[in-house]
Amino acid sequence: MSDESRHSPAQMLPHTRANTRTAVVIPAAGRGVRLGPGAPKALRALGGTPMLIHAVRAMAASRRVSLVVVVAPPDGAAEVKSLLDAHALPEWTDFLVVPGGESRQESVRLGLDALPPEYDIVLVHDAARPLVPVDTVDTVIEAVREGAPAVVPALPLADTVKQVEPAAVPGEPEPVVATPERARLRAVQTPQGFDRETLVRAHGTVTENVTDDASMVEQLGLSVVVVPGHEEAFKVTRPLDLVLAEAVLARRRLNDGF
Ligand code: CTP
Ligand code: MG
Repeated sequence: MSDESRHSPAQMLPHTRANTRTAVVIPAAGRGVRLGPGAPKALRALGGTPMLIHAVRAMAASRRVSLVVVVAPPDGAAEVKSLLDAHALPEWTDFLVVPGGESRQESVRLGLDALPPEYDIVLVHDAARPLVPVDTVDTVIEAVREGAPAVVPALPLADTVKQVEPAAVPGEPEPVVATPERARLRAVQTPQGFDRETLVRAHGTVTENVTDDASMVEQLGLSVVVVPGHEEAFKVTRPLDLVLAEAVLARRRLNDGF
């Protein structure tokens, strides 16, 4: 090793990644059963624009994101491609569309399979979180660039959480078994950010069903860290969430207008 390379910035900060390229996988293949009957959730409109387009724009708004892979409903890839063509998106970002699977986990894996080799940081972002601010996206990317193998944005909880035992007879009250200390609990959001190799390994190793990607990395025994999330990064899950999302959009329009 030459003297020069020993003192290069990369050597002085051994855990910092320098020339990284970041891609985002957006799982958007869910039906949206809890939202009620209608089109797949990601294709439903918010402020007249499909939720998926809001989510794609939120990711592509980051200058650090150079590829967005959308995982479409299994029979909806062509429709998603034409939606992306029909809406204005930043020119510094490339887009790919792949069909999704039966579970969120499978959809994310199909998105990862489609990633070209040059991306070393991967974010996974729910299409169902259309309003996440770009600052949250950048904060997650920055933490991965600084060396964390897995990063999740999260917020403290407003409600106290109880752990329960399933009721002995369905419909009967459920016995409480524990009350975790609220101050140490966090509600996690997306985008979650990963060293690509770590996430691919997690998806290749963990087979049981999980509800977020970071928990797969935890199962590998690797560290996962939390950065501040944002209240506008909430997930549109039930009908009332649509009301809130429309209100957030209306407030943004009002603020942009003045
Ligand atoms: N998702 C996916 N493929 C699946 C299931 C879910 O890509 N087979 C995506 C959804 O499109 C969503 C994200 O994972 O963007 C988070 O899932 P969730 O909010 O549960 O969405 P749905 O599964 O569509 O909703 P529901 O559970 O109410 O049916
Ligand atoms: Mg679901």
